[in-house]
Amino acid sequence: MRPQADPAPADPAPADLFADRYGPRPEGVWGAPGRVNLIGEHTDYNEGFALPFAISAGVYVAAAARDDGILALTSRQQGSAVVEVPVAALAPGVPGGWAAYPAGVAWALQSAGHRVGGASMAIDADLPAGAGLSSSAALECAAGLALADLYELTVSRPELAALGRHAENDFVGAPTGLMDQLAVLLGQAGHALLLDCREGTAAPVPLDAAAADLELMVIDTRAQHELSDGGYGARRSSCEAAALALGVRSLRDIADPEALGRLADPLLMRRARHVVTENRRVLQTAELLRAGELHRVGPLLTDSHESLRDDFEVSWPEANSTVEAALGAGACGARMTGGGFGGSVIALVPAEVSADVADTVTAVFARNRWSPPVITSRIPAPGARRLG
Ligand code: GLA
Repeated sequence: MRPQADPAPADPAPADLFADRYGPRPEGVWGAPGRVNLIGEHTDYNEGFALPFAISAGVYVAAAARDDGILALTSRQQGSAVVEVPVAALAPGVPGGWAAYPAGVAWALQSAGHRVGGASMAIDADLPAGAGLSSSAALECAAGLALADLYELTVSRPELAALGRHAENDFVGAPTGLMDQLAVLLGQAGHALLLDCREGTAAPVPLDAAAADLELMVIDTRAQHELSDGGYGARRSSCEAAALALGVRSLRDIADPEALGRLADPLLMRRARHVVTENRRVLQTAELLRAGELHRVGPLLTDSHESLRDDFEVSWPEANSTVEAALGAGACGARMTGGGFGGSVIALVPAEVSADVADTVTAVFARNRWSPPVITSRIPAPGARRLG
């Protein structure tokens, strides 16, 4: 079986959903992609480095301004009921559930002094939620771009990324970093982005797997994850505790893993070791990409997975088996991608063995009686934009 080639976002029809729910046609349609993180996991909130890229699947928002001050939200993937809240009444918890992501961005824009009025939004997606591909950030950023255009707000993309994160941290209640919003808003076709999460910079780095006869295979293990659960926050707290014990502002300030010997608590030592070694792997990967040596990146991906599995302990059984099966079938390297506890695996695979890798992974899932994985081959796509 060949992995499904990077599918075009043809099916979602947010404008039809809009017409169905609100009557007239929308004023515009905005789209924001999901992202795959090539390497650099749990480094963003430690002010470190990450190397994500945007993908062609995403979240699409058809929207129109309204003059009654109401924010109306409906999503095809969430049953198409309409959630209505006055913009003036937005507050953490109101609304809750999936609607908190787009509503949180309206709230964050408003808290930053931007004048946001009412809007009707219809949301459609071809990016699965809970697959570790940043559907939350895509939803925030598509809604944010729609509001910024509808109300002619002057918001730069880095500012919108920060507001998306603010919404996610303080409105939704998930203590995430800035990687996803930056990837979604600044992504470029044919490139990964080297993020420096202290400086807030994003440098495009060429990523063309096909030119090297390779494929970037993304395997959705269908084990769903939820970042507002405690595991993610606990990892973040451990990193902060390790930085405090080491007397540095953040783990970004530790370049040499030897320095971690000063940590008395073995758990904090392992958590910190992941972050410190992962930052190094990101920089090494970026260097290889810049030198046109993608084929040499594989072992860094696999090392990253082992570090996330053994030191950071955010991997999950389906991901571990996927990595093992992919490597056994000829992948150059493989790792879980995203926050962990469920979601997707990325494998760097020679094009001639990609069908074998897909078959082998699928067979392992069948043997374990897990839901069949969804396997796609991805290339870096452009970031969020107005589509119509
Ligand atoms: C999630 C978060 C990101 C980042 C990753 C782990 O995707 O939203 O901010 O921390 O997990 O790298």
